[in-house]
Amino acid sequence: MYTQSFNVPDSPGATAPAAASAGEDPVRQAAFDARIDADGRIEPQDWMPEAYRRTLVRQISQHAHSEIVGMLPEGNWISRAPSLKRKAILIAKVQDEGGHGLYLYSAAETLGTSRDQMLDALHSGRAKYSSIFNYPTLTWADVGVIGWLVDGAAIMNQVPLCRCSYGPYARAMVRVCKEESFHQRQGYEALLVMMTGTDEQKAMVQDAVNRWWWKCLAMFGPPDADSPNSAQGMRWGIKRVSNDELRQKFVDATVPQARVLGVTLPDPDLRWNEERQHYDYGQIDWNEFWESVNGNGPCNRERLATRVKAYRDGEWVRDAALAHAAKKRARSMKEAA
Ligand SMILES: [Fe+2]
Ligand SMILES: [Fe+2]
Repeated sequence: MYTQSFNVPDSPGATAPAAASAGEDPVRQAAFDARIDADGRIEPQDWMPEAYRRTLVRQISQHAHSEIVGMLPEGNWISRAPSLKRKAILIAKVQDEGGHGLYLYSAAETLGTSRDQMLDALHSGRAKYSSIFNYPTLTWADVGVIGWLVDGAAIMNQVPLCRCSYGPYARAMVRVCKEESFHQRQGYEALLVMMTGTDEQKAMVQDAVNRWWWKCLAMFGPPDADSPNSAQGMRWGIKRVSNDELRQKFVDATVPQARVLGVTLPDPDLRWNEERQHYDYGQIDWNEFWESVNGNGPCNRERLATRVKAYRDGEWVRDAALAHAAKKRARSMKEAA
């Protein structure tokens, strides 16, 4: 998963600019613009404006951090999954999210920023990641609802990124989206099963939907009117569809799914608008969103502390891999001599 709009700025100094600016070069700039206008791809070795590079590093690294931090809320349930089948599915899903983070760090590295720089920005709290992961997973139904709604929102956001103008990011997203689709379906299927169960199970699903619905709508980022960077992202072919348009698509796709499932979406203003041919929906609490983005959500500190601890605990693995590589290099040099 998981994007929020990704036009949320990191704290100052979070991602160092990749390389020294190549300066304003009108000839190269014109070639770049022409490629963008023709809907072509920009590759790592191509010249690109410094602002385009910086924007991509910020967006792709925030996306990578979101995948990695996104492993935590569901990872909490691996040891408590209700059956072997659910445990196997959940392990596979959480592992996929780790894989998504790794492809995305690799894609960001092609822009000249090292993984160490990106991880340092995350671990020191300067880099942002999707605010949705700063909420707790209270019951097993949360795992199903995250698959259905959070991964469902992620797919809406990420399918257009398969056409992003930056080649490595676009290609990474093709595989990521296929896996997100599996995540969404496993979540929905788990909920369908619970909704054929006891009254307690049904109530558990409804309660989880009530807690996650509005947070998922906020995942698409601030309204278009409050997203001043979106126009530039569109011009560069990084952003293809606006936040509000994506949010509307998500609402329109989800309402019929909720009906099949037998749950109520917690919005009294949610109704079909014949004129617009879309569902109308109520007001999102943007204060809550910004509180969570700015570090004050219920689990921000816990999530970050868990990531930092995991990184420190893994130090011996990194050291061992480097020592092994050095030994191998020394051996092959000796043999060559
Ligand atoms: Fe993912
Ligand atoms: Fe996912």
